[in-house]
Amino acid sequence: IAPDAAWRDEVLELARRQDAVILAHNYQLPEIQDIAHHTGDSLALSRIAAASDASTIVFCGVHFMAETAKILAPHKTVLIPDERAGCSLADSITGDQLRAWKAEHPGAVVVSYVNTTAEVKAETDICCTSSNAVDVVASIPADREVLFLPDQFLGAHVKRETGRRNLHIWAGECHVHAGINGPELAERAAANPDADLFIHPECGCATSALYLAGEGTVPAEKVKILSTGDMITAARSTSAKSVLVATEIGMLHQLRRAAPEIDFRAVNDRASCRYMKMITPTALLRCLREGKDEVHVDLDTAKRARGAVQRMIEIGK
Ligand code: 13P
Ligand code: SF4
Repeated sequence: IAPDAAWRDEVLELARRQDAVILAHNYQLPEIQDIAHHTGDSLALSRIAAASDASTIVFCGVHFMAETAKILAPHKTVLIPDERAGCSLADSITGDQLRAWKAEHPGAVVVSYVNTTAEVKAETDICCTSSNAVDVVASIPADREVLFLPDQFLGAHVKRETGRRNLHIWAGECHVHAGINGPELAERAAANPDADLFIHPECGCATSALYLAGEGTVPAEKVKILSTGDMITAARSTSAKSVLVATEIGMLHQLRRAAPEIDFRAVNDRASCRYMKMITPTALLRCLREGKDEVHVDLDTAKRARGAVQRMIEIGK
């Protein structure tokens, strides 16, 4: 199906008739971002899902995001246009692995990135997203051990920012962000000396960016470690004429909309998440026509996960 005017009209009319709100993550295809009622990062979309008075949420993103919406709004119908849209990072720790890790650190506070399954969230004390991970960890008394999972690069960022030594980090990663590496970033930064660097903390190159700043190759104020939502805010306020962006390439669409005068370039233009791109115009239309795929979270798991997710949406900006 072509994302033409007829497609657009039918999607919006079906959503209206079903009292559905369409949410799209910043990594979605441009045509999906453009038709959504709201776009945003994981934290913003969770907050919108929790506050929305629509009876149906159509989540254009990956499965853990739709599950998070269902945990926060158990009485709403939550749909995802393709339930096969998973996440390699969420797959990097299972409930059993987390239970075993907790048993090795009794009394530790478990902080899970929102990129986790509902089962893992049910074993968690506080969830976080990339935009509030530092605030969440800073909210925990300094003498308590913290288990941070599953992303090792976000974990390293939080450890650097909080200076916390009693933070243990799981060795998971997102295959898309881990592939945006330091040498590639250094090369791009050297070729574009006036550019700002917008770097998602899940990236393998986040540490290298700070190293480049530390050795003076790039002015420190040009290196910004940001969630996808915070990249949009930074784009609106920077005076830079060009920005190198280290994250999934879907992000470029919102950035270019927010600041059309800036030249945004991907550090790695192959950094595309195949799961995010499963949400096609055809899949979205089928979802609204057929009410599929519906997301279910078993009631007991949802109940155990809800407190951790609620704490997440309350902490930080
Ligand atoms: P944010 O939008 O919260 O920065 O998350 C990025 C991500 O990788 C989601 O899958
Ligand atoms: Fe998961 Fe990475 Fe895709 Fe985000 S970009 S959904 S973390 S696999």
